[in-house]
Amino acid sequence: MIKLSATRGFVPPGQLSEGPVWDRAHQELLWVDIPAGHIHSATIGPDLVHRATVTLDRPVGAVLPCVSGGLLAAAGDAFVFLDRDGTVTETVPLPGPQDGLRFNDAKVDPRGRLLAGTMSYAEETGSAALYRLDPDRTVTTLRADVTISNGLGWSPDGGTLYYADSPTQRVTAYDYDLDTGTISGARTFAAFDDGVPDGLCVDRDGTVWVAVWGTGQVRAFDPTGRAAAVVNVGPSQVSSCAFAGPDLDVLVITTAAQGPAASEPNAGRLFTCVPGATGLPVTPFADTRLVIAGD
Ligand code: BGC
Ligand code: CA
Repeated sequence: MIKLSATRGFVPPGQLSEGPVWDRAHQELLWVDIPAGHIHSATIGPDLVHRATVTLDRPVGAVLPCVSGGLLAAAGDAFVFLDRDGTVTETVPLPGPQDGLRFNDAKVDPRGRLLAGTMSYAEETGSAALYRLDPDRTVTTLRADVTISNGLGWSPDGGTLYYADSPTQRVTAYDYDLDTGTISGARTFAAFDDGVPDGLCVDRDGTVWVAVWGTGQVRAFDPTGRAAAVVNVGPSQVSSCAFAGPDLDVLVITTAAQGPAASEPNAGRLFTCVPGATGLPVTPFADTRLVIAGD
């Protein structure tokens, strides 16, 4: 039985809390409230304690730490680099028209590239895409037939990418070529009939922890896809999860308060539990090249 606690410590509840990520260099948790454009940070001890919030002028799908110490947000229809105080330093727009679309979930691969996908507000089938942003700011389309891009994570060896286009009600596994950042060999890893897979994370043993939107649960699957654990969260719209804390042993779970679910107790809050697993460290986006003297 995995014991769960709603976070105290004045962590603000969100409309659509999403994208928890442990920033090891700053020893803090980052997450977003997508429609509000908020990027929040908190320290983690026995509980989460809110540290700061910066607000962007557009919806923010995800935020990730960078090697430079700054942040990279997938926000609106652009990649936005910003300082910790919220000052935008660089914007890389997505190619082509992005009407009716916005960035949704994003993660950094083990080599420091960003994978980020869009979603269709109207859930128009196949109108969104999955992109890769390389350190040199080149944008490559990895998939152009997506509806709601979600759920990115890599196996411990980096050779498998787990991905969810939520309305398909599946988590798909791909072979991930770490040298080129390309995907191939799509196959179904886990399927759901009572909700849709949203954010996910992978632990050190290769177990995949999936936030299943609409079910009030995070469900864990071993690397063969067999069910391994269930965390009952409470609010039905469970949006994402990530291992956090100095020992990467705290599973932080985000929830949303959208539509009728907004009246559920604690909807939009963050939850934590210690499920007896250890997360993989998050690689920061390689926004700067280390220049070695004499290089
Ligand atoms: C999106 C929501 C969507 C949910 C379930 C989230 O990642 O931001 O808008 O309702 O996934 O598909
Ligand atoms: Ca999501």
